[in-house]
Amino acid sequence: MVTSLKTVEKLMTLPSDQDASGRTLGAEELANLGEVIASGTLSTTKGTFGKRLEEAFAGRIGVAHAYALTSGSAAIHVAIGAVNPNPGDEIITTSVTDMGALSPIVYQGAVPVFAEVDPQTLNVTASTIEEKISDRTKAIIVTHLFGNPCEMNEIMELARSHGIPVIEDAAQSFLASVECDFVGAIGDIGCFSFQQGKHMTTGEGGIVTSNDEELARRMFLHINKAWGYGDQNPDHYFLALNYRMSELQAAVAMAQLEKLDECVETRIENANRLSELVGDIDGIETPRVADNARHVYWRYCLNIDDTKIRDGGVGMAAVLKEKNIFTAPRYIQKPSFMCQVFQEKNTFGDSGFPFNLARPEAIDYRAEAYPMTVKGLNDILVLPWNEMFTDEHVEYIAKHVRRAAKMLRIS
Ligand SMILES: Cc1ncc(COP(=O)(O)O)c(C=O)c1O
Repeated sequence: MVTSLKTVEKLMTLPSDQDASGRTLGAEELANLGEVIASGTLSTTKGTFGKRLEEAFAGRIGVAHAYALTSGSAAIHVAIGAVNPNPGDEIITTSVTDMGALSPIVYQGAVPVFAEVDPQTLNVTASTIEEKISDRTKAIIVTHLFGNPCEMNEIMELARSHGIPVIEDAAQSFLASVECDFVGAIGDIGCFSFQQGKHMTTGEGGIVTSNDEELARRMFLHINKAWGYGDQNPDHYFLALNYRMSELQAAVAMAQLEKLDECVETRIENANRLSELVGDIDGIETPRVADNARHVYWRYCLNIDDTKIRDGGVGMAAVLKEKNIFTAPRYIQKPSFMCQVFQEKNTFGDSGFPFNLARPEAIDYRAEAYPMTVKGLNDILVLPWNEMFTDEHVEYIAKHVRRAAKMLRIS
């Protein structure tokens, strides 16, 4: 019998944020849940966990007000509701984001106007936003994609000069910062998601933040069917849904919040290590972070040059998959406005509302009009990232990124 001298490498299984291997859920969450169950009060209108969570979260981010709710999508919806657009008003947003950040714009009767992104970070910039400002712009949504903050100094200066409120979508960027300020506390409103794979999770859930009394009040009402709790003559003041978080979720969120700093620090440490290990590979760019910013690595992204590496991110992903490293080349695959809902205006019956009220230039939803978005999505390779990664996991990823780049090198 001939035995091969080659040792067979053992494939590693990376911790996943979809199950216990990559989540920090444990005794603390269970203890809080036990308290809620024992109390018999599962609604945040009467319980204490929801209120404690809101206070603690506001304190950690550095804002006056925070309100917990059912999802990141709900967070964006109440933010838009607070800004209160008229039908056909325009909301500038990014061409690369989750649908949960876009459908609420349309539900409130406003028109999403997509700004281009920087092809390396896939974030909007002051200049790409400026190109889209019109006299119908009611708000600007900036998404700190993958945990990497947008250039907030420049964006806030631009927005202030036009008197337009800024909503920060911080769903992927807990404790990311620009200078000394956490994202979600820089603009007029911050929106966070506690969905399964986020830095802190309750399965589904979210929270909104603001320093502005009026916007905060409207968001609170929007979460609560616009019922004026505590008012002398309460009523349902305007059109709004029930977006309240339950005490069960708030109990889990309280425990998760205590673990957030450590989660973020571990993610950053590991990401810096990976950047050191793969930063010299020709044709691969590691994440670009501004000098005044802190990237919190919801995901770790590489930009792959397909003139140097065969089939770019798609090629790399196929090779990495053989080693149990499951990546997402092209992230959301196509610019957000290429989804059917926007292309076919599938909204309210066959009315085409609110797009039927839009300026034609505002709804130029063609990929050709967004070359930087197309290039950015083409080049990006999104690696899974997790606070449970050890040095061994990071070294394993680095080794196989290097190997894949070598195998696919265009000579
Ligand atoms: C950037 C961004 N915005 C909004 C959302 C919507 O959040 P949720 O899934 O909690 O509704 C997500 C997704 O999870 C997201 O990644």
